[in-house]
Amino acid sequence: MSTILVTGASRGIGAATTRRLAGQGHTVLAGARDAEALGRRVRDDPTLAGLDVRPLALDVTEDDSVAAAARQVEESLGSLDVLVNNAGVPGTWAPAAEVGPADFADVLTTNLLGPVRVTQAFLPLLLRGDRPRLVMVSSGMGSLRLQSTDPVYADIAHLPYPASKAALNMLVVQYAKGLPQVLVTAVDPGLTATEFTDHAGHSVEEGSDAVVAAALDTEGPSGRFLDREGPTPW
Ligand SMILES: NC(=O)c1ccc[n+]([C@@H]2O[C@H](COP(=O)([O-])OP(=O)(O)OC[C@H]3O[C@@H](n4cnc5c(N)ncnc54)[C@H](OP(=O)(O)O)[C@@H]3O)[C@@H](O)[C@H]2O)c1
Repeated sequence: MSTILVTGASRGIGAATTRRLAGQGHTVLAGARDAEALGRRVRDDPTLAGLDVRPLALDVTEDDSVAAAARQVEESLGSLDVLVNNAGVPGTWAPAAEVGPADFADVLTTNLLGPVRVTQAFLPLLLRGDRPRLVMVSSGMGSLRLQSTDPVYADIAHLPYPASKAALNMLVVQYAKGLPQVLVTAVDPGLTATEFTDHAGHSVEEGSDAVVAAALDTEGPSGRFLDREGPTPW
């Protein structure tokens, strides 16, 4: 059984990933900005009864929060097998002509620098395991190929969010080269019904399929971009 940290586990795809991985017997550290509220929900949720879900206070944009979370995991578990960087924000969907540099700050801070901050803090714990895995929850919105050729995306012209996920994809390629001991994977959940999408899309179970598969895969190879059907284009 593995020890797995999921960021942004309070709701949506992160909550479903947490429930499914814990349901398979893994110990899941459920990262949340409000860990007390998540703790109450975990205690009251009959579908989590008896599962090893441990709420962990973690704001991916705050150095102190991430460092404190890493210290807490080091003291309680001593190592980590899998880090799932799932926390993300959509940012503005305003028309391209109306978007300026300030509109990128929150999105890049959370979706790009958040995974860097959390990965750097937890890397020493990951490297203590046999087959450390790093999963980045990306998006088809970050795929240069899909955005430029797939008719599904023809009417979408947003700036900050797709840029943050395209940059996250590049991080996966670079981490895969720079951290050869770690199995690094980018995943696209596909359009999933959460607060993020105003509840449009497939179920959170379907949305978490690729996340759960990547978290549990120990074969690799490292540096892939996967959706629930398999490899998807960068
Ligand atoms: N839904 C989709 O169709 C879709 C498609 C492709 C990719 N994705 C990606 O999937 C991931 C999860 O999205 P979702 O649809 O599940 O969205 P969601 O329901 O809005 O959940 C987002 C999660 O991220 C957390 N979060 C936001 N900012 C944070 C921060 N600074 N520190 C820690 N946690 C933070 C939220 O926690 P709080 O409760 O504290 O706000 C929440 O748990 C995101 O990376 C998103 O880009 C989603």
